[in-house]
Amino acid sequence: MSEKRLGVGLIGAHTWAEKAHLPGYAAHEQVDLVAICDIDESRARAMAEKFGARRIYTDPDKMMADAEVEMVDVCTPTHTHLPLSLAAIDAGRHVLSEKPLHTLSGPAFDAAAKADARGVRTKLGFTFRYSPAIRQIKAWIEDGTLGEIYHIHGFEQNSQWLDPQVPLRQIAPGMPRDKLIPSSIVGYGSHLIDLMRWLGGEFGSVASTMKNFVPSRVVRGEEGLQKIPVEDGTVALVEYANGTQGLLQTSYIAVGNYPGVELRVYGSKGAAVARLISEFGTAETLKFATADSVEFKDVPIIEKVLPPGTTLGTPWPELYYRNLVRFFVDEILEDRPQECTFFDGAKSQEIVDAIVKAHFERRWVDVAGS
Ligand SMILES: NC(=O)c1ccc[n+]([C@@H]2O[C@H](COP(=O)([O-])OP(=O)(O)OC[C@H]3O[C@@H](n4cnc5c(N)ncnc54)[C@H](O)[C@@H]3O)[C@@H](O)[C@H]2O)c1
Repeated sequence: MSEKRLGVGLIGAHTWAEKAHLPGYAAHEQVDLVAICDIDESRARAMAEKFGARRIYTDPDKMMADAEVEMVDVCTPTHTHLPLSLAAIDAGRHVLSEKPLHTLSGPAFDAAAKADARGVRTKLGFTFRYSPAIRQIKAWIEDGTLGEIYHIHGFEQNSQWLDPQVPLRQIAPGMPRDKLIPSSIVGYGSHLIDLMRWLGGEFGSVASTMKNFVPSRVVRGEEGLQKIPVEDGTVALVEYANGTQGLLQTSYIAVGNYPGVELRVYGSKGAAVARLISEFGTAETLKFATADSVEFKDVPIIEKVLPPGTTLGTPWPELYYRNLVRFFVDEILEDRPQECTFFDGAKSQEIVDAIVKAHFERRWVDVAGS
């Protein structure tokens, strides 16, 4: 490994940066955390002190012009992801953005192309690709251990908004409230679809049903209970382009703990089930069965696949993000192939759009470009 260090500047110094992104930079010996930027100066200062950043900024453009910043991390609210990422690309910086890059796939594809043309690398914050159990399943698919893949079942569900008194923060100001508002399929589905596509290949067609189960809720920034038709549960059927059959569920109102991701892959030779659900002090479990030995056995997740310094008792945001950050930094420093890029983010968004369309039009919808 080269001894070069990568200069990093992070934008958006609040909850998720503190829990997930910044511990990853602090733990990587080859990261030089140059700067932290937030429009709220006190937040930038507090995070810089906690994680050892050398400078603070309140203007993202000024931070991107800092010659020591080689990679920009965008950890701000959703509507700012695309403009800040485009500014970073224009400034010739590698860029990691929180998901989604944009709520439409077109601008996300454009940003991916722009980064390629500028010769900078991108990564989208698809946290669960960096789960050791999920990466093991990916390896078993690639080395043929599971054989031909027949079925992939994906779930991202937990009880985050089962209680209507917990303020919902996904509603953009001015959003029409006279028809169903896609929500869990957008927030959770973008992650889950990326995982299912990464493991199984391109989606061909989708059919779906979306529903609002809890009719009135507290919405962040508004007084009292609001009657609002938020989609809090979606089920979709998937025909993969290669013939694999898939099904997926996203839900904000399914009893269970965070993050609530479960992936089941069934092939001609074997099957694997990963549960990324914090339960009794363990972040995730992995089970495996073969055609000759059909009872699922626990597969120990061994130290060497965990990010250095973590255990399965490490809180999941830090566990997965330390891995994500480590992969991106090492991809840049060691000139490794890219994975989990803005292009993947745009593909995931395109599939979310197809699932929403399938529900509203009550039909199978082909996924563009599949
Ligand atoms: N990948 C995941 O699993 C996952 C999990 C949780 C949150 N997230 C995402 O992470 C992002 C951050 O989440 P959060 O809960 O910390 O959000 P937050 O709203 O609590 O904090 C965002 C911070 O960004 C700052 N900010 C806003 N606009 C800015 C701008 N233009 N320039 C500089 N600073 C700006 C705000 O002042 C604030 O401190 C969101 O997009 C969220 O959806 C992802």
